Formats: sequence, structure tokens, C-alpha cells
Amino acid sequence: MEKPIITKADIHDIGGLFNKPELHEATFIIFGATGDLTMRKLIPALYNLCVDKLLPRDFKIVTVARSNKSLDSMLARFKSGVERFSRNKLNDDCWQKMVDRISYVQVDYDRQESYETLKNELGITLPENADRHYLFYLSTPPTSFQVIIDGLGKSGLVTPAHHKAGPPTRVVFEKPFGRDLQSALALNELAHHYLDEEQLFRMDHYLGKETVQNILIFRFANSIFEPIWNRRYISHVRITAFENIGIEGRGAFYEEAGVIRDVLQNHLLQILALCAMEPPNSFDAEHIRDERAKVFKALRPLDPYALRNDVSLAQYEGYLNEEGVAKDSKTPTYASVKLFIDNWRWAGIPFVLSTGKNLKKKMTQIEIVYTPVPLCLFKENDVCMKLEPNVLTIRIQPEEGISLRIGTKTPGEKQDVSPVQLDFDFNQSFKEKAQQEAYEKLLLDCLRGNQTLFARQEEVEHMWRFVAPLLEGVQSGQIPMGNYVAGSNGPEVKP
Ligand SMILES: NC(=O)c1ccc[n+]([C@@H]2O[C@H](COP(=O)([O-])OP(=O)(O)OC[C@H]3O[C@@H](n4cnc5c(N)ncnc54)[C@H](OP(=O)(O)O)[C@@H]3O)[C@@H](O)[C@H]2O)c1
Repeated sequence: MEKPIITKADIHDIGGLFNKPELHEATFIIFGATGDLTMRKLIPALYNLCVDKLLPRDFKIVTVARSNKSLDSMLARFKSGVERFSRNKLNDDCWQKMVDRISYVQVDYDRQESYETLKNELGITLPENADRHYLFYLSTPPTSFQVIIDGLGKSGLVTPAHHKAGPPTRVVFEKPFGRDLQSALALNELAHHYLDEEQLFRMDHYLGKETVQNILIFRFANSIFEPIWNRRYISHVRITAFENIGIEGRGAFYEEAGVIRDVLQNHLLQILALCAMEPPNSFDAEHIRDERAKVFKALRPLDPYALRNDVSLAQYEGYLNEEGVAKDSKTPTYASVKLFIDNWRWAGIPFVLSTGKNLKKKMTQIEIVYTPVPLCLFKENDVCMKLEPNVLTIRIQPEEGISLRIGTKTPGEKQDVSPVQLDFDFNQSFKEKAQQEAYEKLLLDCLRGNQTLFARQEEVEHMWRFVAPLLEGVQSGQIPMGNYVAGSNGPEVKP
């Protein structure tokens, strides 16, 4: 084995990954606990963390919603969620441990007295339990975030960390954070009224995926790619997130969101930032977030020319017949945007972001397409016509892995070239290692206060600023809406 490049003694700052003080007491408070996400993702994630003994010794889960529900009915729902969606099978001992720690509180978010009920349930009596961490998870529709934050703030359930007046509290916002730039600015302002930025966790579960985290590892743990990771060697980059399912009965939600708010504004722009950012000074959360934000700041705004020539929007045929969808809906289910990052590394290089529903194949991937060879030396057999550029493909899901297309000699007496793939398959290489679900990783990070995988205030604002002309273009009808056959490869997009 080669000698390691640096020894542990050389590591000064690796982002606080080592030596984190162990957390002994924590309470998770989940708002919107009667909803789909709590049953499908949050409770199974907490259950898996419990099985893996990664939760604090003394943890509690207080589930909160407006509905009048019995604890038993909530527990039955959560149990079925674990049975159906957890990666670890339901084990009676572990489940009993969860049951002993789960409670349910009915809260009317508009009534301040309701927060007092919650306060009593949480048993917040200072200063005795100042060591207990409280993690408020807003798993409600985003329109309710403001009223809940206001209620939590006014009741003193959350206080700014710098006041050191209450127990350590953090708030997790499910995505989307706002529905446009104005609402995101307003929500940030309100959140900062009651909390410090270090207490705010804006969730984008895509960032918790192993393969998304691997983008930075791949770029910065390998010395051969970084020197050619720039405009001199790369001709363009494609980032694609296709789903093979439609809106699955969630018409009302999708009409509000559409593909721009649902995927492009958050997941795709965040993946773009990880691909395009400069090497951070360290893997410390703030250094990584600084570099991501710099990418967003350098995005060339979409002007009328770009909206006309670099954007394709479409709806799948049959969308208008889906339940909860307006008959004259202009909500796009497909978007493709060619954008530019105006900085030294990427000037002039197109990044094409495409996403859509109801397409032929489910896949999320990044393709780094390299410049062609400067001169073709193989003049026989039309080889020059057939030479294909190198493409590095990072597959986020499914078939997680990385492949590199290279040209190689086709066996035989002729001088012929064929493209072949060098392939790394995540699941094959790490067969023995169970992959943590994104929500497990992210919940643990919230608990430990590691904000690397969460967007900072200015990141969300820049992302909304970038998509604002798209949202306005849809609203005003300025961007024409195409259509495509469900289950197809999508519409014809602009070159
Ligand atoms: N489901 C997913 O896979 C997924 C993925 C990514 C992000 N998200 C985000 O995660 C959040 C929760 O998702 P979900 O699928 O669980 O949502 P959901 O089922 O539609 O709603 C969750 C709960 O919120 C409460 N609620 C509904 N309307 C409300 C309102 N106007 N004000 C306050 N509370 C209201 C309801 O509980 P009560 O009426 O009992 O209070 C409901 O059970 C949403 O912000 C969503 O955008 C979900």
C-alpha cells in the first residue's frame, strides 16, 4: 500500500468531524406529524438511527399536528411506516424503545396558548435542562412556516443561540424554503428575528445522498481530475434529473410547485454548485457553503434572450386530466435550462440542467463532456467522423456510480476506434456496507449542528433570484409551453 499523503497529526481542521462532544439528551419535535413525510421518511430514519445506536442515550420524539389524534393511532401509523419504508426490518425491542419515547401533542398553530401546551409537554424549565438539545422539524406545507416560527419565537420555545438564554434549539425547514424570492427573504427575516443562522437548517434531502456527497470526495480526493476541471478541457456539463412517474395524485401540491420550484430551484442548482465550486479552504461547513454561494453569485442572470433561446418548458400529455390540476394549467412538468457561470474557471461553458416527470427512465446524473482531441490522427475508416469526446458520468441514482467514456482500439487489423466505458459501481464496490438513507444522515447532522449539507441564507436567496425570470416567464406566458408524450424521452429541447 502507498504511504498516506498526510498523517492524522497533520490534520488541523477537518470540519469538526472528529472530537465532537457526545450529545446525551435530545428532543425531536416534528410538526406536521400526521403527514406523509413523517410516516415515510422521518420516523423510519429515526428508527434506523435508533437501531444503529446513533441517537443520544436519552432521546424523545414529540409529534405535533393540528388534528385531534390519539397517541395509539399515531403509533400505529408510524409502525406501518417503519414496516414499509425502513431499511432495517422492524425489530420488537427497538420499536418498543421508540414507542416509549414518542408522544403526540395537538397544536393549533394560530393560537399562542397552544404553544404553552407544547412547552409543558416538552418540560422546558430553565436552567435545569439546558443540556438537552431541541430540534424543531417543520414538516408542514411551507405556507405555515411563518406562523409556526412566530409562535415558537413568541412563546420562547426558540431563542437566539447568542443570547444563551434558553436550551440549545435548532429549526429544520423542509423544502421548499419559500415559494419565490420575496417569500424566502421574508421567511429568512422572520427566522433571524428569533434565531441565529447557525440554528437554521434548510433541508434539501438530495444533499444527504451518498452519491451527492461523493461529488466533493471524487473531486478533491483524486489528484488527476482537478487540473482538467475547467473551461480549457471541458466543453459542457449536463445535469439531468428525470423521473419515470407522474404526479401520483398530488395535483394540488404540484400545481403550486411545478418542476421549477420542485426540483430545479433546489436539487439541481445545489448539484451544480458542488460540480462547479472552487476547492474550499477546508471541509468545514462554512468554507463549503462559502464556495457554493460564490457559484450562485456568478450565475449569469436569465435575460429575455436566454429565456427565448436557452430554456425549454413542457407538460406531459395527460397532465391536465390529473386530479387536482386546472384544465388550463400552465404548470411545467419538464424544464431544460442552459446556463453560464461567469467566473474565471467556467466562462463560456454551458451547463444544461434538465428535469422532468413521467419520462421513460428514472435517472439523476451529471455528465462532464470533455473537449475533443485537437487533431485526428486516424484518417482511415472514417475514424475521425466517429471519434467521440470523453464523458465522465457521475450517476446519482439509480445504478449509483461513476463511469468514464474513452476511445479504444477496436480489435482487428484495421485502425479503428470504439468508445468503451470504465465503470465504478457503488453497490458492487461497497456490498457489505449498508447505505444510510439521506434523512438519517441529515437528521444526525442537524443534531450535531453540522450545516455542510444545508443551504445558508444567501444560497437560497441566490437560487430564488436565479429562477425568478423563469417563474415570471411561466406566469406571463412569455416562455412557450411545449408538451411531450408520457413515458417518452421528453420534448425536443433547444440546442
Ligand atoms: N412527502 C415527501 O416526499 C416530501 C419530499 C420533500 C419535501 N417535502 C416537504 O415536506 C413537508 C411535509 O410533506 P408531507 O408530504 O408530509 O406533507 P402533507 O402530508 O401534505 O402535510 C403534512 C401535514 O401538515 C399539516 N397541514 C396541512 N395543511 C396545513 C396548513 N395549511 N397549515 C399547517 N399545517 C398543515 C397536516 O397535518 P394536520 O392537519 O394534522 O396538522 C398534514 O398532515 C412539505 O413542506 C413538503 O413540501 C415532502
